[in-house]
Amino acid sequence: MTILVTGAAGNVGRHAVEELLREGHRVRALTRDPARARLPRGAEVAVGDLAVPDGLAPALEGVTALHLITFDGGDGAALRTGPRIARLAAEGGVRQVTMLWSGEPGPVEKAVAAEGLPWTALQPQEFMSNALNWVDSVRTEGVVREPFGGTLSNMIHEADIGAVAARTLTEDGHTGREYVLTGPEVLDMPQKAAILGRALGRDIRFVELTEQQARERMRQAGASQEAIDHVVGWYADPPKEAYTVTDTVERLLGRPARTFAQWAQENAEAFR
Ligand SMILES: NC(=O)c1ccc[n+]([C@@H]2O[C@H](COP(=O)([O-])OP(=O)(O)OC[C@H]3O[C@@H](n4cnc5c(N)ncnc54)[C@H](OP(=O)(O)O)[C@@H]3O)[C@@H](O)[C@H]2O)c1
Repeated sequence: MTILVTGAAGNVGRHAVEELLREGHRVRALTRDPARARLPRGAEVAVGDLAVPDGLAPALEGVTALHLITFDGGDGAALRTGPRIARLAAEGGVRQVTMLWSGEPGPVEKAVAAEGLPWTALQPQEFMSNALNWVDSVRTEGVVREPFGGTLSNMIHEADIGAVAARTLTEDGHTGREYVLTGPEVLDMPQKAAILGRALGRDIRFVELTEQQARERMRQAGASQEAIDHVVGWYADPPKEAYTVTDTVERLLGRPARTFAQWAQENAEAFR
């Protein structure tokens, strides 16, 4: 049994690969660029682009379970090639698919269901790894700058998402389930900055940006208008799922979800 992990060099996929390898599974890791990907040792590397699915047949050969991202890093939009990917997966003998959503269920989720493949939908809320966006301002000024400082978030450790993906790919009983995945607590922006500061052993200040400043910053970073509207809209008026804690991670993994304090300890070096 070979498990194909897409997005294997990314925040979640990397952890899914490591967890599956730890559990003794045979893992194939998909990347568009193996020279840059630095994939976990022990994984078989497959080269392919989900936006160009006809080239994916070799990566899917002999694969029985598939972890699927649903966005195209090329333009940041939802993958429009879901139907072809789902058909190739079904023809190749895939019997279980986990899908990592991009904030809302989209065309890939529909295509996988329409193909009749057994699926599990993973719906993590905010990733803790988004805090890496603060590296420069924390290093140089001891400051975290974001808009909507009072917005509460149940941010989740990306390793927990990867571990849930590994579990649902290799265990029965998860077909047709949509799992809303969260961390163990809700935090506002000043609390996140304070937790990071404690991990670094220095004061980290939170400075609130206006919505206009936040939009301008994203524009300068190259984000599309659609992406800017989605992200700003999410923080300005988050859905209930973004500030409600679920026990799904603990139920599925048999241990509590990791805290932001743990994440900050693990990633402290990046901020120094
Ligand atoms: N950040 C959050 O708070 C958050 C919350 C909920 C959901 N999400 C969703 O989680 C997903 C991952 O987001 P992220 O920002 O953390 O990204 P990431 O994991 O850093 O991202 C990119 C990964 O996807 C792969 N990839 C991208 N386009 C590809 C393509 N066309 N074909 C094959 N592989 C491709 C990349 O592979 P190579 O470059 O190696 O080819 C890389 O491994 C996104 O769908 C995002 O919307 C994020």
